[in-house]
Amino acid sequence: MSVFRNVVSYLTDKQTKLFFIDAAGALLTACCLFLLTYFFENGDTAIVTGALCGVACCFFTYSFLCFLFIRNTSAFHLRVVAIMNSLYACTTFIFVAIAYDELSPFSLAYFPGEMVILFILARVEWSVAMASQESRPQMKAVVYDHYGSADVLQFTSIPRPVPRRNDVCIKVSATTVTAADWRLRKADPFLARLFNGIFRPGKIRVLGAELSGIVEETGEKVTRFKKGDAVFASCEMHFGAYAEYTCLPDNEFIAHKPANITFEEAAAVPLGGLTALRFLQKARLKKNDFVLVYGASGSVGTYAVQIAKSIGCRVTAVCSTDNIQLVRRLGADDVIDYKTSDFTRRQERYKLIFDAVGKTSKSAVRHMLEPGGKFLSVWGIPPAHPDDFSELKKLVEGNQLKPVIDRRYTFDQIREAHAYVESFRKKGNVIVTWRN
Ligand SMILES: NC(=O)c1ccc[n+]([C@@H]2O[C@H](COP(=O)([O-])OP(=O)(O)OC[C@H]3O[C@@H](n4cnc5c(N)ncnc54)[C@H](OP(=O)(O)O)[C@@H]3O)[C@@H](O)[C@H]2O)c1
Repeated sequence: MSVFRNVVSYLTDKQTKLFFIDAAGALLTACCLFLLTYFFENGDTAIVTGALCGVACCFFTYSFLCFLFIRNTSAFHLRVVAIMNSLYACTTFIFVAIAYDELSPFSLAYFPGEMVILFILARVEWSVAMASQESRPQMKAVVYDHYGSADVLQFTSIPRPVPRRNDVCIKVSATTVTAADWRLRKADPFLARLFNGIFRPGKIRVLGAELSGIVEETGEKVTRFKKGDAVFASCEMHFGAYAEYTCLPDNEFIAHKPANITFEEAAAVPLGGLTALRFLQKARLKKNDFVLVYGASGSVGTYAVQIAKSIGCRVTAVCSTDNIQLVRRLGADDVIDYKTSDFTRRQERYKLIFDAVGKTSKSAVRHMLEPGGKFLSVWGIPPAHPDDFSELKKLVEGNQLKPVIDRRYTFDQIREAHAYVESFRKKGNVIVTWRN
């Protein structure tokens, strides 16, 4: 019965319907083409077969692309589908023109007709999608449609997301501004455009890489969460936390919020915490190992100091004068002020030197490593496993990890929040919440 229910729900899913409309359109075209070639009795068999193979390839590629695009339905993707519909018609037209070397009155009438039909199909499909978007409840969100300075962030209304079968829809209580947000906003480095659109943001228009909030709705396959649960999550490459609601797959980096921290604190744990944890795990640290954290006052740095202390390491933190008290409070045994002394002249040797802000290099610190010691820089982040998130949660629940919150902003101050984080001067984390 559940298989039957799943099949029915799959077939009635709006996005799947759109896929079937497209696939049916393409199939219809391919069948017509087949019949057409059948009627051209004088055609050379090899050419006709070649043309049919070409059309079949087009059909499969087309259907596959439609599937990919329509699974992520948005106005932009539908535009692409409309263009692909027309291209498909043109391609079939060219194949037959080559195959028969001349155009019969029938084909002359057929192909323009086919293009008109496909165009109408695309329009209908577009209207259906637009109507379904318009009928969806709206929500407030911060959207960006151009790469650039913090001014590109616009406070606006967009349709509320609908959870798919494996999704959890979360009402966002708090999120943060991280380097990932401003770098994607500016497309810095340039290669970020390969991920999110060459000329303008496409796949991700709503930034926000981590959050805390309350589960509003769940897809039918979600069993771990229910409406009303307090959760915190890393959005990973989905982003989307700069909105009232966002949907995340339940099998990734999402967990129940630890009871001993606030929503604001919980929002600041996932990204910086996971990054620090991944690096420290990679170094296989043991009790009493000597660890130096360079850039100990940033988000990653403050977590790295605390995680190293939770393992029982002896931690030396490097930061500027203003942040000495902060890193001492986090448990650092020794603090070096990089503004007044050159930490590379120290005599101590370390099992791990972790550059948490990407501002030093292995060549500068190699002589400070003990035999077998490691230098790790935040630039090359090792992949995380969802189990790491449980590990992080345990550290928070055991009071071994406490997020440092520097400033708090509301969403209508998001541009100021971005400008501040981009200055590289934040201490720990910057929180963004909805105005009460
Ligand atoms: N935040 C995250 O969740 C996250 C996740 C993955 C990767 N990353 C990467 O990790 C790096 C650090 O990010 P972050 O958010 O932790 O911090 P950040 O906002 O990038 O950096 C802020 C901190 O860096 C310190 N800093 C600035 N210049 C420094 C220098 N020359 N030497 C030593 N410290 C310096 C500042 O402290 P002082 O004022 O004391 O100098 C400040 O506390 C970024 O490259 C980011 O792309 C971050």
